[in-house]
Amino acid sequence: MSDAAASVPALVINPLSELMAAEVVGLDLRQPLDLGTRDAVYQAFLDYQVLAFRDQDLTKEEQVAFTEQFGTLEKHAQRNQGTADHPLVHIVTNLDADGVPTGKVGSMRWHTDKSFRPKPSMATILHALILPPEGGDTVFANMYAAYEALPATEKEELDGVGVVHSWELSRDNIGRTISEWEKRDAPPMTHPLARPHPDTGRKALFMGMHASHLEGMPMEDGRARILKLEAHSTQPQFLYRHHWKTGDVLMWDNRCLLHHADANFDAAVHPRVLHRTCLRGTATNF
Ligand code: OGA
Ligand code: MN
Repeated sequence: MSDAAASVPALVINPLSELMAAEVVGLDLRQPLDLGTRDAVYQAFLDYQVLAFRDQDLTKEEQVAFTEQFGTLEKHAQRNQGTADHPLVHIVTNLDADGVPTGKVGSMRWHTDKSFRPKPSMATILHALILPPEGGDTVFANMYAAYEALPATEKEELDGVGVVHSWELSRDNIGRTISEWEKRDAPPMTHPLARPHPDTGRKALFMGMHASHLEGMPMEDGRARILKLEAHSTQPQFLYRHHWKTGDVLMWDNRCLLHHADANFDAAVHPRVLHRTCLRGTATNF
């Protein structure tokens, strides 16, 4: 454990798998965290990448207040602006405007949130309000572990390679043409493919469904390489599957994980509703 962690109060933490993810026990997230506790939570976030706070009951205001203790809230893309009263709280739902299950679940492909931004997301915080009786899991892939498992020659090859992330291409791949406004708002952005984590310095593969191609390589070759790395990174030994409980607040690190929703429930019958806030990250220089 780092010196920073040693100097702050110990949290009660139950690891949820050998690789990553932990429950943080005993905090009521409606209350502001004292600075020592906040730092301990942040250290646990760096150590475990996914934190689960159980049995929470946050209003949107309270979720925003909890999130803001760790940084700057990020707005969402054009179609996901939350509600007029809380534009920074995105509603993750399979319900239509009348509250009827649509059968559709979003975010089903491997991705890391807002990787197409100049300052890709640091963390996403998701609070489970309504869950199906079973399933509707979120699955995470540990991109530190995936990077570290690559052969040394491949790590060298990836060193200094830029990966272009494109919201336009990413939406194109799911059959949606983005508006001119969205194109201006989210132009393609290059990041290091083996990206040092801004806080830990450990390298993690930085790709997923918004990743388009590799700089300095023919389009098709770059795409093939990205897909090969994704297949490598999403092997079972790199995964943690979160089985949600109502009231869970999950906080994950977008800088070293890919994630996706698993539609392993009948989304045409059962509601699944979560509230989402995002924290802005930092740019990375090559
Ligand atoms: C997200 C996301 C996955 C899920 O909110 O960014 O990818 O399981 N959610 O709903
Ligand atoms: Mn996501």
